[in-house]
Amino acid sequence: MEFKIAVLPGDGIGPEISVQGVDVMSAVCEKFGHKVTYEYALCGADAIDKVGNPFPDETFEICKNADAVLFSAVGDPKYDNDPTAKVRPEQGLLAMRKKLGLFANIRPVQTFKCLLHKSPLRAELVEGADFLCIRELTGGMYFGEKYQDNEMAYDTNKYTRPEIERILKVAFEYAMKRRKHLTVVDKANVLASSRLWRQIAQEMAPSYPEVRTDYMFVDNAAMRMIQEPTFFDVMVTENTFGDILTDEGSCISGSMGLLPSASTGESTPVFEPIHGSWPQAKGKNIANPLAQILSVAMLFEHFDCKAEGALIRRAVDASLDACVRTPEIQVEGGASYGTKEVGAWIVEYIRKA
Ligand code: IPM
Ligand code: MN
Repeated sequence: MEFKIAVLPGDGIGPEISVQGVDVMSAVCEKFGHKVTYEYALCGADAIDKVGNPFPDETFEICKNADAVLFSAVGDPKYDNDPTAKVRPEQGLLAMRKKLGLFANIRPVQTFKCLLHKSPLRAELVEGADFLCIRELTGGMYFGEKYQDNEMAYDTNKYTRPEIERILKVAFEYAMKRRKHLTVVDKANVLASSRLWRQIAQEMAPSYPEVRTDYMFVDNAAMRMIQEPTFFDVMVTENTFGDILTDEGSCISGSMGLLPSASTGESTPVFEPIHGSWPQAKGKNIANPLAQILSVAMLFEHFDCKAEGALIRRAVDASLDACVRTPEIQVEGGASYGTKEVGAWIVEYIRKA
């Protein structure tokens, strides 16, 4: 195959982990005889500083013309505590999602056996947890009508039937490919938007008779995720609930630095880690590159390159088993490896495989 990849390193630790993702992508392409080219583009605070726009038109063009986007992270503390800032790095990410029509965000929550003790939950609770959170990504409060003055502010949580149908279809299809259990997460006891979600899910469920579909309020789902994470197979939810639940999900595995994600929809798909830009770690070579590297595995799998994805996953597992790990997951007394060293070890594993 030929891959044209748009690379958006962004802010904070983004550029450091981006390099590792690109190196792994290149190593796998070389191994399997694929051709790959990269085009780099600005986004986030970096783009605001350089051209005054967190998602410049040029970046959009590069993304639109690529087969896939390898995205890293955006965000900078200088904007976080300034509610008056007119432009923010996060707007770049939101603009990318909206302009590329990336309505389906697939966030797998998986555990690694050798890291079970790193989980804030008891190992016996998390062992075997393996679920997908499907988060609607271009609707709801993030994009609904907004208003703000000094006395009043609101965000509108609006969803239309077609928006709900298309994301539920994605969710039912994933459930069919997995353990055939779908949990629709909403707040239908309070919110009208949630009631429409639930109604449409109930209309669609009979078309997927093999899927066991259940409905759970979001507060209850947040509790169930830590009480019994193995309960879930595929969960689907709206944008805001999905944002919150996937942060919760990502820490189950023991480190936020481990989980990748894919955003798909109408145009070029985007592959990115779940974690943010961790500005405090910028330039220190301590950020875990595994979430970014596993995003590359998801990229290959998206294009049905299963062996390529599997090789990356094997390489990641092998690095963990060999205790080639960044500090936050290293064993006591284990050697110290940084972002670059972990990435280089994985590239080497792929070359030799
Ligand atoms: C995420 C992030 C983004 C979101 C931010 C950076 C806008 O938290 O991808 O989960 O809220 O969607
Ligand atoms: Mn988030």
